[in-house]
Formats: sequence, C-alpha cells, structure tokens
Amino acid sequence: MITKICCIGAGYVGGPTMAVIAQKCPHIKVTVVDLNQERINAWNDNDLSKLPVYEPGLDSVVKEARGRNLFFSTEVDHAIEEAEMIFISVNTPTKTYGVGKGMAADLKYIELCARQIARVAKTDKIVVEKSTLPVRTAQAIKDILDNTGNGVQFQILSNPEFLAEGTAIEDLFAPDRVLIGGETSPEGEKAVQALVDVYANWVPKDRILTTNVWSSELSKLTANAFLAQRVSSINAMSELCEKTGADVNEVAKAIGMDSRIGPKFLKSSVGFGGSCFQKDILNMVYIAKSYGLNEVADYWEQVIIMNDHQKRRFAKNIIKTLYNTVSGKKIAFLGWAFKKDTNDTRESAAIYVADDLLSEQAHIAIFDPKVEPEQIHFDLNYLDTRSKEENAKGVSIETDPYETCKDAHAIAVLTEWDEFKTYDWQKIYDNMLKPAFVFDGRNILDGKELEKIGFKYQGIGK
Ligand code: NAD
Ligand code: UDX
Repeated sequence: MITKICCIGAGYVGGPTMAVIAQKCPHIKVTVVDLNQERINAWNDNDLSKLPVYEPGLDSVVKEARGRNLFFSTEVDHAIEEAEMIFISVNTPTKTYGVGKGMAADLKYIELCARQIARVAKTDKIVVEKSTLPVRTAQAIKDILDNTGNGVQFQILSNPEFLAEGTAIEDLFAPDRVLIGGETSPEGEKAVQALVDVYANWVPKDRILTTNVWSSELSKLTANAFLAQRVSSINAMSELCEKTGADVNEVAKAIGMDSRIGPKFLKSSVGFGGSCFQKDILNMVYIAKSYGLNEVADYWEQVIIMNDHQKRRFAKNIIKTLYNTVSGKKIAFLGWAFKKDTNDTRESAAIYVADDLLSEQAHIAIFDPKVEPEQIHFDLNYLDTRSKEENAKGVSIETDPYETCKDAHAIAVLTEWDEFKTYDWQKIYDNMLKPAFVFDGRNILDGKELEKIGFKYQGIGK
C-alpha cells in the first residue's frame, strides 16, 4: 500500500489534485514540490486567500490537510527519495523555439524531472504522468530512468487529469472517470492497482478506468480536442446566426436536447481560452503531421483557426460598430480571466481582443474580480506587439466596476463572472458616453433589459 506520495509541480493541477488526495487519504503523506519558491510560500501562507490558485472550495481542503499529511516544499530531492509514488505535474507548454515551434509540446521540464528522479531514487518507484503529454512520452521517460538510474525499478503510469478550472474541487471530488494507463506486465498491473487503490478511497470503482499507457495518453488529447471542437462548432454557427436572424442560444438548446448531442459545452462565446485546449490540439496536430497524417492534422487544426477567427471578429465588430474608429475611445472590459471562478488568464480571449483594440489606439479600462494587475500587464507584454510603455499607457486596471465603465464609449464582457449580471446597469448607463454600447462576449446579460435602459446591446450569435 502506498503511504508516501510526491508530486513535482505545484501549479493549477498539482496543487488542487494533491490537496484532494491528501484530504481523502489521511493515511498517505503527500508532499508537493516546486522549484518556484514564491509559489511554495504562497501555498504555505496562513492567509488562505493568498493561495496561488483561486478555486472555489480549495481553501477549506488545504486548511484541513495542510500540516497533517499535505506539505508544500522546494526540497525536491528529499521528497522524491522518500516517496513510493511520484506524480509529474509540471507544465508542458507549446514549444517556442526549434523544430515544432508553435505546435509541439515542450518536454524539457518533463525530461528534467525524469533525470532528477533517476539521479535521486534509491528505492523502486512508481512514476505517474499527471501532465498532459504527447502519446508515447512514457517510453522516453522510461528510457531516461532505466539508463541513468541507480539500478532501481521504475514503473511508468499515465494518469491524465480531467479537472476544469473553476470547478476543480468538485471535479476532483466526483470525477466522471479516473483514467490510469499502465504496462500489461505483472509489474505494470501491480503499479496500476496501487494507484487504483489510492483513488478508490473516494472514487467509485466503476469510474476508475484502466487501459494501456498509449490509450491513456492519447485519450487526454482526444478529450480536449472534442471539447474544444464543440465550442468552435457552436461559435461557427454563431456567425451564421448573426447573418440569418437565428439565435445561437435557441439553436444550441434545440440541438442539445437531442440526447445524441447533449446540452453541455454548447455556449457560444468570444472564443475558448485556457492553458489546455489550444496547446493540446496543436500538439495533436503536430503528432499527426509527424506520422504523415495530413488530413487528420488539417481537420483538427480547423478548431484553432475557427477560435482565432472568433476572437478577431469580436474585436473587429467593436471597431466597426463604434463608427470605424476606437482611437482615443475608452472601452471598458469586464473580465480578463479565461473563464469565471479562476484567476488563470492563460490564452484568455480578453488578451487578444485587447491587443487588437490597442493596435487601433483604444484606451482599455479593465476590471476582473480575481486577476492581479501585474498578470494583465504580463499577458499583454508577452505578446510583444508593442513596447511595455505603450501597453501601460493604453490600459488602466481598475478595482471598481462602476469606475471602469465611467465615461466609456463601450463595455465588452470577456468573462462570464456571475457578479456582472447583478450590477446596477442603470447607474452604469447614466455614467457612460452615449450611445452606450455593450458587447456581450459571453451572452450573460439580459439584452432586452439593457435595451430598455437605453444601451445598444450586442450578444454573440444573435
Ligand atoms: P502550471 O504552470 O500551473 O504548474 C506547473 C508547475 O511546475 C510550475 O509551478 C513550475 O514551477 C513547476 N515546475 C516545472 N518544472 C519543474 C521541475 N523540474 N521541478 C519542480 N517543479 C517544476 O501548470 P498546470 O496548469 O498545473 O499544468 C500542468 C500539467 O497538467 C500540464 O501538462 C497541463 O497540460 C496539464 N493539465 C492542466 C490542466 C489545467 O486545467 N490547468 C488540466 C488538466 C491537465
Ligand atoms: C479544459 C477541460 O474541460 C478539462 O477537462 C481539462 O482537464 C483541461 O482543459 P479548462 O480549460 O479549465 O478545462 O476549462 P473549460 O471549462 O473546458 O473551458 C475552456 C474554455 O472554453 C473557456 O475559455 C470557456 O469559457 C470556453 N467555453 C467552454 C465556451 O466558450 N463555451 C462552452 O460551452 C464551454
């Protein structure tokens, strides 16, 4: 039975997943390690509002387990040495250099972990891929471990994570399924069983699925590709709705009631964001191309092309509607995170919409209930479209939504935070320049009510 777990990588996945394992398995010591001292300090902060990841419910899970059997540390070697099972949950971003630039997953952090585990391990270990990885990465990890290790035995499992940000804790408490891929040898099966036993502390057995390693690795990429494809499909229809007088919400409801299609993931939006969808599809496209499967690659790449188009056309529509110029005009952004209930902004549509509007010399005032100002500056500067100084001049980051909208020509809703629905929209209207435009990139506001107040309202796909 496993009694000590180590997880390398204390990010959006490593932190919450290990906190839940520790809470549900008080008999297992769980140590989450990271190179980033600041992040570890934040995980250890007594003030739970300072945790580095904002997720509803995470604070109470951490409060219960931290210091009991959940530990956050930068002592990576020590944690590896004492653990029987090691999760690798480091980032696997899209490569920004060399072969596969802009497409393939950058596996340098994974390889560094494998080499470190090989160097440090003095006893047999089960190594679990928690990060999302290209199919067949387990082979590379195994080669490194077997050729550079101290002669101890390693078993590699694939255990991809399906949590969505904003609902991470409920997803981890009651997952649709847990997927574990392992070797079909007796040692492989024993390792798989050890991980099954960990999850079986709270997940019903019929929801724990075991497969071979390659199916597990590829299932994760496939799941994200299918989910993203649904969003791009409904977004493609939103543009057609706008031209034909159909309403995308009505279309989504009508098709979603077909039990073969189902109602989830059919919300039209300004475009999907997040650290996973684009990265994982590009990675899959790259893998398909590397096997010469060009039709497969082109098919999935279209999901990304459609998403880029959806973000671009949102910005273009704002410019067109504001009489073809936004130069010097104040546009208020409600929301910067890639979805509600998270402070994560990676690949958020808001970044790209802001970038396009800044290129047209708009002034953008931004309010998000959870995103830190430094993060917004970082996101814009990372695109490298213009100098840091120019970016800083073009945006103001506000702490009050009413102040954000004051004297604005238009409001753009970029994230579907619930609180936006309950604002005093009459007050907002009274303080705006007229005509007062609202571009609802999430279709969360009541357009008819806003029009009664006097707003010029535009949703997506209406
Ligand atoms: P993240 O960037 O939030 O966290 C990764 C952490 O790993 C960072 O804190 C980094 O400092 C640390 N790290 C990198 N190399 C290290 C090393 N050698 N030693 C110690 N620490 C190291 O990333 P994330 O969002 O948690 O994603 C992690 C993986 O999980 C990715 O492969 C991602 O695709 C996958 N995933 C993410 C989500 C999600 O919702 N974010 C969901 C499912 C799967
Ligand atoms: C996704 C997968 O859902 C999750 O299983 C995987 O582990 C990681 O990637 P995440 O990116 O955290 O999770 O959030 P998700 O809820 O999938 O939303 C992704 C993006 O799609 C967000 O920008 C969201 O606003 C957008 N979206 C989602 C839509 O625009 N419409 C929808 O109907 C659903």
